[in-house]
Amino acid sequence: MASANITKYICTECGSITTTKTGKCSSCGSWGTLEVLNESPKPKSNQPSVKIISASDVKAPKRISTCITELDRVLGGGLVPGGVVLIGGQPGIGKSTLLLQAAGSVAKNYDIPVLYISGEESDAQVSLRASRINTMSEKLYLYSGSNLEEALSSLDSNSFAFFVLDSVQAMSADSNSGWPGTVTQVRAVAQRVIDCARDKNIPAVLIGHITKDGKIAGPMMLEHMVDTVLNFYGEGYSSYRMLRAVKNRYGSTDELGIFEMNEDGLTPVKDKSGLYWNRDDVSVPGVAMTIALEGNTPLAAEIQTLSARTIFPYPRRTSRGIELNRFQLLTAVIDRRCNISTGNHDLYINVAGGLTLSDPSADLPSCAAIASSLRNISLQSGTCWLGEVGLAGEIRPVTRIDLRLKEAARLGFHSAVVSSRERIKFDGIKIISVSHIDDALSDILSKR
Ligand code: TYD
Ligand code: MG
Repeated sequence: MASANITKYICTECGSITTTKTGKCSSCGSWGTLEVLNESPKPKSNQPSVKIISASDVKAPKRISTCITELDRVLGGGLVPGGVVLIGGQPGIGKSTLLLQAAGSVAKNYDIPVLYISGEESDAQVSLRASRINTMSEKLYLYSGSNLEEALSSLDSNSFAFFVLDSVQAMSADSNSGWPGTVTQVRAVAQRVIDCARDKNIPAVLIGHITKDGKIAGPMMLEHMVDTVLNFYGEGYSSYRMLRAVKNRYGSTDELGIFEMNEDGLTPVKDKSGLYWNRDDVSVPGVAMTIALEGNTPLAAEIQTLSARTIFPYPRRTSRGIELNRFQLLTAVIDRRCNISTGNHDLYINVAGGLTLSDPSADLPSCAAIASSLRNISLQSGTCWLGEVGLAGEIRPVTRIDLRLKEAARLGFHSAVVSSRERIKFDGIKIISVSHIDDALSDILSKR
């Protein structure tokens, strides 16, 4: 006869439940990810009424601004009452700072209470940080500790604009045993916060740690449970931080928010497109400009290439900011289709400012930069290059060309080299239409 007390195991990777403890999860194939599942009895609902309503009778919820324009934009216009946002990022990237800034600013500017629950820092630490980033307000309420029930019970005493939970891995939900941060705890904490936000019809923001491979630590279903998942990231050496929505039930995932971390917190960067370009009007061989897209945001990017005679039997190819395979492929296209020998040169490619370009529109500027460096002839200044390059050397159209050209014109570029197959409506910039890499680089190729 089956016993009622069978031990169940949950996979920390995919969330599947099994009754057999094995080294490998039979569902997702991960090793060593099964742990004991502590199931708490489901609370009995005392209101078993079922209510359905017409969709047209549902009023659009009024969003709550976080007082941080970039954060509002990425969220799709602010926080939604009853909605839960999960923000993940590397340790020290600025998650706590960003949310404390939002909490403090709302409390200060609108004079509405906001609750900041910290399972990681003491009241003194949080309050010190709030005064350091200039968002101290008497309406900003702090709770520090890891007891979730205790923290959420303080929401009954006041009508809060929203609450922040820092972090989902540092709290434990009362009804569950186990250390904070285990899969069962993380899932229970998230579920309790979601229920509480829906119940009280106020927004909640969960801060989440990420694992070595950049995923939010905890069960994968955590991201399915919440309404919005934001990713906060940036290069270690740079003071710039990017915010992108990975999932958004209440808005688009195309918006990009950029912040600069200063000694007094995070400041939104207004002129994003010029961020990775220092606007020096010096033409150097091997440098080509392009307008890349990060979501919906156009960014001017400077692609730099250096060629040097090789001393190795196999020439070196080194790339930063552009995928190495792509770079090698484009080098082969230049070699074959433009008849520029690359075999006896080491080639280095770099996108200035640490930007990574995965968009195929970077192909044409990369080819232009490679050819310019190998021939030691600079490209015409004030020109940007936008096109995908095929193996036959053909230039293909790119996405959202009008948006890119408009931004190029605004930044002061006078001409743009684009595919002849583009359908362009914008006429504020001189268009140089090319169909093959040969035509595109005719200036360089004609000067032998
Ligand atoms: P924090 O918000 O604690 O990061 P997270 O919560 O993502 O782990 O940010 C910590 C880093 O930010 C820390 O290394 C110092 C830096 N920082 C500043 O540069 N200026 C500031 O005003 C603050 C508050 C932090
Ligand atoms: Mg933190």
